[in-house]
Amino acid sequence: MDEIVGRRVRITGGPRGEWVVERVLAVRGPALPAVPRVERREGSSEPVADAAWTLHGVRSNERYVERRERDRLVAVQEELGRAASSCAALIPIKKNSEWWQLAQDERRAILEGRSRHIAIGLDYLPAVARRLYHCRDLGEPFDFLTWFEFAEGDRGRFDDLVGRLRETEEWRYVEREVEVRLLRATGAT
Ligand code: HEM
Repeated sequence: MDEIVGRRVRITGGPRGEWVVERVLAVRGPALPAVPRVERREGSSEPVADAAWTLHGVRSNERYVERRERDRLVAVQEELGRAASSCAALIPIKKNSEWWQLAQDERRAILEGRSRHIAIGLDYLPAVARRLYHCRDLGEPFDFLTWFEFAEGDRGRFDDLVGRLRETEEWRYVEREVEVRLLRATGAT
C-alpha cells in the first residue's frame, strides 16, 4: 500500500459497520442523515454502494503541538481498538473562513494559548483514545473528522470533555459540528 493510501480514512454511515449509532446530535449547523451503523476504514477511499453518507479524511502531520506537549501526549495516550472501548464518537467539524484567514501563530494562540485545548484534552487521557483526520483540502463538507473511543464507564467524562471544549474561544470559529455517538456492535454487521 503506498503511503498516501495508507493514511486515508473512509467513514460511512449506512446499514453495516462495526459501530451501532446511539444518537446523532447537530451541535452546530445541519446534522448528518440518521443511519443504523457507522464504519471507519483506514487505508481505503473506495465507494461503498449502500452507504447513506461517506466522509473522507487523511491522517496528517501535527500543526500546533509543541515538543513538551507531544512528549506528554505520547507518554499517556492509548491506541484506538482497546477491548474495553465499547463506546465511540465521530465528531466532524468545519471551522469558518475567519479561522482559516488567521496566521499560524494566531491560530496556535487561540487553540492552546487561550483555549487550552491540549491541556484540557490531557486531563482525559488515557481514558479517551483519539484520532484526528484532516479533510479541508479534499473538497469535503468538513475540515476535520475526529474519532474517540472510551469505556462505558467514561461516557460522562467524555461529555464533560466536549462540554469544556465547546466553551472555549477556539469553538467560536466552529461553524458546523455533528456528534455521532456509537456503541460497538455485538453481532455481525
Ligand atoms: C481526548 C482528549 C483530546 C486531546 C488530548 C486532544 C488533543 C489535540 C491536539 C494535540 C491537537 C492539535 C494537533 C496538531 O498539532 O495539529 C488537537 C486538534 C484538534 N482537536 Fe483535539 N484533543 C482532544 C479532544 C478533542 C475533542 C473532544 C474534539 C472535538 C469535540 C477535538 C477536536 C479537535 C480538532 C477539530 C482539532 C484540529 C484543530 C485545528 O487544526 O484547527 N479534540 N487536539
